[in-house]
Amino acid sequence: MGILAKRSKDKNIIDTVFTMVKKAKDAKIKYGEENVTDVTIGALFDENGKFVILDSVSSVYKNLPNMDIAPYAESFIGNPDFLKEMKSWVLGEHENKYCVGGIATPGGSGSVSSTMKNILDPEEVLLIPNIGWGPYKIMAQEHGLKVATYDLFDEYDKFNLKSFELEASKIMENQGKVLAIINDPCHNPTGYTMEKSEWEEVVEIMNNLSSKKEDNTFILLDDIAYIDYAVGGYEKSRSYMGAFEKLSNKNLVVFSFSCSKSLTEYGLRAGGSVFISNSQENIDDYMRANEFTCRGVWSNVPRGGMKLFSTIQSNEELKNNLVKERNKYVKILEKRSEIFMNESKDQGLEVYPYKEGFFITLKVKTEEVKEKLELLNKENIYPIQVAHGIRLAICGCPSQKINGLAKRIKEIIG
Ligand SMILES: Cc1ncc(COP(=O)(O)O)c(C=O)c1O
Repeated sequence: MGILAKRSKDKNIIDTVFTMVKKAKDAKIKYGEENVTDVTIGALFDENGKFVILDSVSSVYKNLPNMDIAPYAESFIGNPDFLKEMKSWVLGEHENKYCVGGIATPGGSGSVSSTMKNILDPEEVLLIPNIGWGPYKIMAQEHGLKVATYDLFDEYDKFNLKSFELEASKIMENQGKVLAIINDPCHNPTGYTMEKSEWEEVVEIMNNLSSKKEDNTFILLDDIAYIDYAVGGYEKSRSYMGAFEKLSNKNLVVFSFSCSKSLTEYGLRAGGSVFISNSQENIDDYMRANEFTCRGVWSNVPRGGMKLFSTIQSNEELKNNLVKERNKYVKILEKRSEIFMNESKDQGLEVYPYKEGFFITLKVKTEEVKEKLELLNKENIYPIQVAHGIRLAICGCPSQKINGLAKRIKEIIG
């Protein structure tokens, strides 16, 4: 019989990230920091190789009264001022176009996981991109869900609308409901960001499929963990959200927001779901189920993390300080990516269509990934294996070390 529930017997995380992080760490001790290119970690490091802690954030946190940190949150769904500021920051000028709801969750992870749980029943199928963040699959298994994938890119290196539509329509036919994940802008691990026109077509697909039968519904989870690192500023990064004005009343969009990256406060576990629909009934239903999940799974989100976000966002000066400081790093990411992308073009090194964000991914056939990683490791380059490629976390690697990196990689793996 054993101690585990049947549904937990096969749980076993194979953490390829942690293993590679350790290899990189050991190599630094053995060969010296300067001789190792560590592109493993998905956190922001500055040009001196130091973990970024934003002063505009930490100075506010240090001055929070203890009573804003120690007690429980004001509500299971989160502090009201946090929810107000999160909805406003996530949606910007689009907030008043939709019926809107929001809950605080432990990081963006809590939002993604609770969305799966409250939209799909065990044995139902979740639709995710074939290249994507690993934990989607882990979370799906945690909730007893099956997973289907759409091809993220077409032959022109654009979002593969055809594949998205095809896979979604199969699921709709079988279960009368689709929950699909799109991680955009600044996709992890490729750095792709969709055009507004691509979003408009996604909305059309959602509407077409949900109109096939009376009780069909299409729920989209847009994972926006990296949205505040999009190039071109706040309004531009949210401009695609206008596309949902055409969303059918039957459908719902959930944005999974994370303070981990937006504030570089990964450990405070603040984040949330902001959900929009053109039907208030959908928002009320989703809210009711989520309130139950908050109480039933994590109880409440750390008060200090929420207070930190709402204190900054509700004060123009503090907010401007944060935006300004964060933008310095958006520029640094731009610089690092330009170096790498220009060089890889010169060298004929194949990469996925990067636009912005923390990561660049090399196009590598799945069956060759392991062997090529080993070759790179031998030359003290430590990236991460992902589906259909090898991910380089340019967020964690100073420009100086990115100079010449594409050339080296091309020489090593061909
Ligand atoms: C694509 C993606 N989504 C969501 C998250 C959620 O992070 P957190 O739970 O720390 O907010 C991450 C973090 O690495 C991520 O890469």
